[in-house]
Amino acid sequence: MRSVLFLALLLISALPASATDMPALGAGCLSCHGAGGHPALADVPVIAGQQPLYLANAIRAYRDGQRASGQALVMHEIVKDVTDADIEALANWFGAQQ
Ligand code: HEC
Repeated sequence: MRSVLFLALLLISALPASATDMPALGAGCLSCHGAGGHPALADVPVIAGQQPLYLANAIRAYRDGQRASGQALVMHEIVKDVTDADIEALANWFGAQQ
């Protein structure tokens, strides 16, 4: 019994860190972009299933001041301190959502 449990744990831990593992920073995005990137708000874009490269470019452009985000410049503030690795992780996760 014990070894079965051990095997199961081994199998689970052997799975690659998958698209189901939301990067910690992603939690802060859901209040506007909705669960899994499907917003309930009509003026917030759907980011679920978008191409990861497009998402990464958009986030980087907000961070680097190359893209304006509406009148409140809301995205600028939110991503001003994210690293390139954070951007990659966020873009891959939201891009993998259905
Ligand atoms: C306070 C609400 C709010 C939060 C929180 C928020 N966003 Fe946004 N986001 C917006 C709005 C509004 C826009 C549209 C802005 C514009 O006009 O460019 C947007 C745009 C975007 C876009 C561009 C989409 C496109 O189609 O070009 C991306 C990508 C994005 N957000 C990712 C994120 C990520 C990742 C997070 C979390 C780190 C996040 N957002 C947190 C409100 C928010």
